[in-house]
Amino acid sequence: MKRILVTGAGGQIGSWLVPELRRRYGAASVLATDIRTLSPEAVSAGPFQVVDATNAKAVGQAVMRHRADAIYHLAAILSAVGERDPRLAWHVNMTSLEAVLEVAREQGCAVFTPSSIGAFGSDTPKNPTPQDTLMRPSTIYGITKVAGELLCDYYYERYGVDTRGVRFPGLISYGAPPGGGTTDWAVDIFRGAVEHGRYTCFVRADTQLDMMYMPDAVRAAVGIMEADPDRLVHRNAFNIAAMQLTPERLAAKIREHVHGFEISYEVDPVRQSIADSWPDGMDDSAAREEWGWKPEYDLAAMTEDMLMHLRQG
Ligand SMILES: NC(=O)c1ccc[n+]([C@@H]2O[C@H](COP(=O)([O-])OP(=O)(O)OC[C@H]3O[C@@H](n4cnc5c(N)ncnc54)[C@H](O)[C@@H]3O)[C@@H](O)[C@H]2O)c1
Repeated sequence: MKRILVTGAGGQIGSWLVPELRRRYGAASVLATDIRTLSPEAVSAGPFQVVDATNAKAVGQAVMRHRADAIYHLAAILSAVGERDPRLAWHVNMTSLEAVLEVAREQGCAVFTPSSIGAFGSDTPKNPTPQDTLMRPSTIYGITKVAGELLCDYYYERYGVDTRGVRFPGLISYGAPPGGGTTDWAVDIFRGAVEHGRYTCFVRADTQLDMMYMPDAVRAAVGIMEADPDRLVHRNAFNIAAMQLTPERLAAKIREHVHGFEISYEVDPVRQSIADSWPDGMDDSAAREEWGWKPEYDLAAMTEDMLMHLRQG
């Protein structure tokens, strides 16, 4: 039986991960926290508390009262928002991670922290991007992700904190909207198709990035935390991959279901340059070997499922 605290629970990932954790471990065992109040449906499904994850004291008290033995740390500022306010991104991403790791060290919790394809930079090999490779990102978001990976490794090596994590690709989901990342187009394109039959994309037609459907991302987050620690060589920041998409490839697949769907392009130079610096396809063989990672959704299965759920409203 696990008792879990989730930070940033109201975001794109948390709104999927919290229900899955509650299904697996019991609703009362999972305390959802966020800096803002969540929707009444999310709150009534189980315990919820407003907690600023950058406040170590508040995180510590919430962990103690809930008697948590694991923390899923999702609170963060994402890539595009981070470029608008770099100091905020550094403050939120680093201060909250340090707070969570210190609380975990004091109270003996395991910690899941997501890294990202954004941790890589333009001089990283792009396809395939190896598990262990050159990482010199040019965004403040990426810098916090690399620093976070290293800090999680440090807390494991130095203090024995059971830190684990994956590098998520761009995540595609219905429900809670994405929080201001560079891959938001891959979610918005579905809404555009269903609601208006067209979509204006902010990156070029041939911009290839790793993407994943949210049910697979949630399985990865739970899977790495349940993995046999004796088999883990890397522990933190496993590359995980499911599909490589460009806007034109995704648009063509959507057009098979939404006749006459039109895509046009108004490129945002900031997000285009971020996307250009990220991998085209990650090598996830370490995750496959060390804890049995395997995605279930490919482009066709994801597109069908997304459109079905969005059409149901
Ligand atoms: N969504 C993706 O495509 C993706 C890809 C790679 C990595 N990630 C990582 O996964 C994690 C979660 O991402 P997401 O997409 O759910 O982000 P999101 O922006 O949708 O949600 C983040 C949540 O954190 C909350 N938050 C912000 N500041 C906070 C604070 N100080 N204290 C407590 N809560 C705070 C926000 O209110 C929000 O609900 C992040 O670390 C992100 O970098 C996401």
